Amino acid sequence: MNTVETIPELRQAIKQLERPLGLVPTMGYLHEGHLSLVRLAREQSASVVTSIFVNPTQFGPNEDLDAYPRDIPKDLALLEAEGVDLVWMPSPEIMYPEGFQSWVDVAEVTQVLEGAQRPGHFRGVTTIVAKLFNAVQPDKAFFGQKDAQQVAVIEQMVRDLDFPLEIVVGPIQREPDGLALSSRNVYLDIEQRKAATVLNRALKAAKASYEAGERSGDVIRQTMTKTIQAEPLAKMQYVSCAHPRSLQELKEIVEDGTLLSMAVFVGKTRLIDNLVLGPNH
Ligand code: PAF
Repeated sequence: MNTVETIPELRQAIKQLERPLGLVPTMGYLHEGHLSLVRLAREQSASVVTSIFVNPTQFGPNEDLDAYPRDIPKDLALLEAEGVDLVWMPSPEIMYPEGFQSWVDVAEVTQVLEGAQRPGHFRGVTTIVAKLFNAVQPDKAFFGQKDAQQVAVIEQMVRDLDFPLEIVVGPIQREPDGLALSSRNVYLDIEQRKAATVLNRALKAAKASYEAGERSGDVIRQTMTKTIQAEPLAKMQYVSCAHPRSLQELKEIVEDGTLLSMAVFVGKTRLIDNLVLGPNH
């Protein structure tokens, strides 16, 4: 496995790699969720590039960039074991040199849900992802369904700006009790860890109601809200029952692909989760 830092080194190394090329962009501190994307990339590509870059521009003023967990030696060992061909670890100065002033801004789909809670977050995500795509020029790029809005925003950007690549979305990886894998789960104590299953329980309750014939967006949102409110350690930030592309809230469920999503605080830890409704999901 080769490791590079600068863009000229990256371009030189990529020339040696067989196509199709798969890119798995990450911010490091890898867990099973990331590794499942690497495996998907391995299955679907002749060569796999993983980027590790903790992108400062997607952190808000109240989100602690310096506290973001990092463990590069462990990440590299995990990626090597998965058969990744090339790891790109640029410095912030390489990605945002002095005088940097060009941004990618997806206008509408960024304004709701996570975007409403974290202003400017998606502008940072789309700008860095566009830069990663331009530098690596992959045939496919792999993202996790756990960040469903991030996927919708990046897909919108790829359509709007004609990036010549395919976005592949890997399924959410869960603990046996249903908790979605996240680097933040380590912050939960034993009681909070039990309470954190409430996100998945709320999604399952909404799905059961849909499967029993419910089609009202309001009722589905209420079902999720009630489940979360019944958990004393949980504090709901939002629940959503939205169109899968526009992410606008729905009055009536759309038959294939309605996105149920939520953000919930358990103690001080902010957790997100989602589920797609419909016969093909
Ligand atoms: O999902 C992430 O880890 C990040 O948002 C990404 C896509 C690597 C961009 O920094």
